[in-house]
Amino acid sequence: MKRYDNYSLSAHNTFGMDVRAALFVEYETEDELRRFLQSGDLARHGRHLHIGSGSNLLFAGDYDGVVMHSALRDLEVVAEDDSHIEVRVGAGYVWDDFVAYCVAHGWGGVENLSAIPGEVGASAVQNIGAYGVEVRDVIVRVEAMALDGTMHVFANAECGYGYRDSVFKRGLRGQYIITHVVYRLDKTPTFRLDYGDLRARVEAGGTPTLEAVRGAVAAIRDSKLPDPKVLGNAGSFFTNPIVTRSHYERLKETYPDMPSYPAGEDLVKVPAGWLIDHAGWKGKALGRAAVHDRQALVLVNLGGATGKEVMALAERIGEDIYNNYGIRITPEVNFIL
Ligand code: EPU
Repeated sequence: MKRYDNYSLSAHNTFGMDVRAALFVEYETEDELRRFLQSGDLARHGRHLHIGSGSNLLFAGDYDGVVMHSALRDLEVVAEDDSHIEVRVGAGYVWDDFVAYCVAHGWGGVENLSAIPGEVGASAVQNIGAYGVEVRDVIVRVEAMALDGTMHVFANAECGYGYRDSVFKRGLRGQYIITHVVYRLDKTPTFRLDYGDLRARVEAGGTPTLEAVRGAVAAIRDSKLPDPKVLGNAGSFFTNPIVTRSHYERLKETYPDMPSYPAGEDLVKVPAGWLIDHAGWKGKALGRAAVHDRQALVLVNLGGATGKEVMALAERIGEDIYNNYGIRITPEVNFIL
């Protein structure tokens, strides 16, 4: 197991914040993780945080506890019939490498989730979603270790999945460490192309294939989302708020082109990116933190911004959105205070 004191996290958070962890550990086997959990080090340090590739985190400053990272990167087929295949993947496997693996093997289900930063473990915590697909659609079960070292298996229905939400973010937060995720993929893919201009892009190349969907999704993301290696960011900074249909209908009288997506009976989801953009924030900076100029849902580090500067910008935007539209937007990014 790798173990470092006073360790720089700058390579472990896509905002590129130069903050330090009191202790950083990276384990390669479940046994290593269990031994560490049972060593008493977590309790001694007071608090802990498990990270993937840090693509959804914003550190306010140094972290005075233990930061853990999984290097479990195994992948095996655990079940198969004529139409489906089940694959068990280590939590530290890079998410997009897994998508590439599935596409290369002709297995459908995750191609719309191409090019999302992060790792397999975080996919199951965050219920990552894009272009009409959420990872909950393909998760069979999640294997996790409790802090006492015992293993637990959560069937999909026990994970409490909702839009960018799961039981691992809420009631069970900090209590389990995901070690493996089992996904169920389709040997005869069904293409889901009804989001935005995805269909037009894919069909421009002929009959849809998994490779074509993966390529189109990556190209759309590339055109809007900044590359964290160039401009620090954590993807969508806010979740898209859900409001009552009557609230939305009232707003529509003033803003006739405000988009929406159905979100259950009498509820609609409104794109936070649209609200922020139309409130005039796109491209605006506050200190060294800014709203991305091609996608208003993304906040960026212009260089040397602190987490507190980004949080201050987010707060200002949130107040403005509430004053303009009567809607509260909540960060999707986890603030680590
Ligand atoms: N829009 C604007 N201005 C902007 C940004 C968006 O007017 O600056 C409008 C767009 O024109 C469109 C609508 O808002 O009508 C939605 O925009 P988009 O399709 O870009 O999607 P989104 O709601 O901004 C969500 C996810 C993304 C995911 C895309 C595609 C959330 C919080 N975000 O973004 O996820 O890639 O849909 O499915 O649900 C992420 O989680 O990091 C992420 C990038």
